[in-house]
Amino acid sequence: MKVLNLKAYDYRNLARLDYTPGEGVNIICGENGLGKTNLIESIWLFTGCRSFRSVRDKDVVMFSQPQARLEMEFHSGNRTKNAVITVDEKRHAELNGISLASGRKMMGEFTCVAFTPLHLSIVKDGPEERRKFLDIALSQLKPKYAKSLLEYNKILAQRNATLRAARDNPSFLAMLDIWDEELAQKGAVIIDSRMRCLESLKEYACSAYDEISSGKETLTLRYKEYAREKAQGRQEIYESLIAALREKRDGDVDRCITSVGAHREEFSIELSGKSARNFGSQGQQRSAALSLKLAEADLIAKATGEEPVILLDDVFSELDPQRQKYVVSRLQNRQVFITCCDEENLVHMEGLNVKVERLEQLEK
Ligand SMILES: Nc1ncnc2c1ncn2[C@@H]1O[C@H](COP(=O)(O)OP(=O)(O)OP(=O)(O)O)[C@@H](O)[C@H]1O
Ligand SMILES: [Mg+2]
Repeated sequence: MKVLNLKAYDYRNLARLDYTPGEGVNIICGENGLGKTNLIESIWLFTGCRSFRSVRDKDVVMFSQPQARLEMEFHSGNRTKNAVITVDEKRHAELNGISLASGRKMMGEFTCVAFTPLHLSIVKDGPEERRKFLDIALSQLKPKYAKSLLEYNKILAQRNATLRAARDNPSFLAMLDIWDEELAQKGAVIIDSRMRCLESLKEYACSAYDEISSGKETLTLRYKEYAREKAQGRQEIYESLIAALREKRDGDVDRCITSVGAHREEFSIELSGKSARNFGSQGQQRSAALSLKLAEADLIAKATGEEPVILLDDVFSELDPQRQKYVVSRLQNRQVFITCCDEENLVHMEGLNVKVERLEQLEK
């Protein structure tokens, strides 16, 4: 996967941008607030996923303008493709001149992995961030997964609504059997996919961490079930979910929330046996999050047969020169976009093949 050209019009603070990147490592420099993260975000939107920055699609439209427009020419599966994304109240997408039903339909067409300071939350924040990490990786690997997740969330909302109704009127309790069944069925599909994904990521992430840290610490990832028996495979997971949902039902009715299921589970990240969230240094946490992202890229490459584009926003902060150089040298044979404020960082890149540009030069 390679971006050949990107044009942006009225995208956040980028009024007009025309960018022809190199095939390898591209470093984009510029002061704070110039629009580097916006550029990274604009490439990310071609994955069909939501922005990692805002919840509302329309936030990317330049203030007081009606529409943002992005045009990308990219190389995928030995073919050159053209995609257009326009955003007004919603996202719209076009691929090779054909309108898609929604912006989400780009999923699987253009694959990339983004690592920004916001992604440090995978290590630093609560379980939701780690679930989101697996969900985004899986959505790009299997666009059907994103659909299953939407369905799961709908069933969960319906079960919670039934719990609220049942608290005041016990006749609703009978309906819970139906929701438990559906939630356990769909939940087992999601959990099974997440467990397999984590299992495949493990190997890549641990070796990436080992290299980034020059073997100073070891990374361990472990899937964490919540309030149910450990289980392997879809059928066993389904059975453990059904049993746990029944066991927790009275408490769920009292509190009107579903306490068991895919929406509560996560995985732990440990460095040399200690929780990275609670005990890791800033640089170690960044290295762990980055290793997970590089592993995600390896996994996508293995599954699709094509290296995804890699977006690294402000990745050099808090990494010592040795770790920085490792990152760039490990990514030599892929197309990578790295943003940074400080060109001084680049002295460490001597001997590596990188194209360095200032963001101002790309604005037309
Ligand atoms: N919808 C929008 N319309 C216009 N400007 C916007 C919009 N959304 C964000 N901005 C502006 O875009 C500017 C650049 O943001 P961005 O985060 O890309 O900068 P950056 O170059 O990554 O800076 P830093 O080095 O601090 O990370 C900000 O000043 C922000 O106010
Ligand atoms: Mg930024």
